[in-house]
Amino acid sequence: MIKESFIHIPMVNLDREYLLLKNEIEPSLQTILESGRYIQGPYIERFESEWAAYLNSNFLISCANGTDALQIALMALELSAGDEIIMPSYGYVSAAEVAILLGFIPVFVDVGMDYNLNIEFLNDAISSRTKCIIPIHLFGLPANMSRLLALADEHGIYVVEDAAQAAGADVQINGTMHKAGSVGTIGCFSHFPTKNLGCFGDGGSLCTNDEKLAAKLKMLTAHGQNRKYFHDIIGLNSRLDALQAAILSAKLPYLDQFNRQRRNNALLYAKYFESNHNILLPEYNENHIYHQFTIQCDRPYRDRIKLALMEKGIASMIYYPLPMSRQKAFQGKARIHSDTNAQLLCERSLSLPMNSTLTSEEIEYICTVINTI
Ligand SMILES: Cc1ncc(COP(=O)(O)O)c(C=O)c1O
Repeated sequence: MIKESFIHIPMVNLDREYLLLKNEIEPSLQTILESGRYIQGPYIERFESEWAAYLNSNFLISCANGTDALQIALMALELSAGDEIIMPSYGYVSAAEVAILLGFIPVFVDVGMDYNLNIEFLNDAISSRTKCIIPIHLFGLPANMSRLLALADEHGIYVVEDAAQAAGADVQINGTMHKAGSVGTIGCFSHFPTKNLGCFGDGGSLCTNDEKLAAKLKMLTAHGQNRKYFHDIIGLNSRLDALQAAILSAKLPYLDQFNRQRRNNALLYAKYFESNHNILLPEYNENHIYHQFTIQCDRPYRDRIKLALMEKGIASMIYYPLPMSRQKAFQGKARIHSDTNAQLLCERSLSLPMNSTLTSEEIEYICTVINTI
């Protein structure tokens, strides 16, 4: 058991991960610093081709962050103002935010207790104005893409995957495994430092198998130009920088190993919580990469757990305290199809520390603090 006075357990240990990979990260950073070439260049090309190969996707375009990735994806599709975009009622707000910024109407559809889009509700929410679905693979568990893609196909609707929290997760479609993000029309990733494939600042990427779409995505990241100073469409300035690309290339070979460690940590949590019947654990699934380890329980108990952990120097987070569908900024600009579970999950969810470098001693300690409340 670790000495109590020294305990400080954060949600993620970015410093530990850095020390593990220091020798692989630092030489490229040094090379870039000495080269004076900080924007574009070989490190960007290298990361894009390595990440495309990992995802088994034909085209990969890096950009400045995950929110930009979603915005660029929606700008690239043939959509018109007023078109409806279905997305989960529960999750991170980027998808709704960019949809509204671009003049589209988010339609919020409830999630199951696994935090992902409920396919039955999704079916019911599709209207003649629905042009796109954005599943969010929340907390690292991919949505049911087999059924979702079949539905989208049947209705001729685009699918933009928000895979910000699911780098390296697997999805099974007709018995074949694919990487989350690589099976929709466009996949969007965030490389924010705390993500499973995170850099040391902001970063994002998009993937697609459609060549024409890839060319448009690329133009959109670069002020709508594909020849310098010739701007054919309205775009953004959304670039990953060379230092971040080098960091991502150094980390990518460890992504599967780190995700396996997260799965092992999830199993350990499950073992220590085995006899705590007040807690509902996230399902154990080989396709889950546990970006977050999120438990569910009654609100008073949840709030007591949070307080007890805080008193012991252990972090925990409520992802999220308010459904996307109920955010003030979106009222009057979106349609709520259903969000009963989303509201319930806001009351019941608590994310515990989770990362690849969390030790078994730390997990045991966290669980002991919780189980003795
Ligand atoms: C599900 C989801 N989508 C989108 C984003 C936005 O990514 P970024 O912070 O890189 O803009 C995040 C980041 O937290 C996220 O978790």
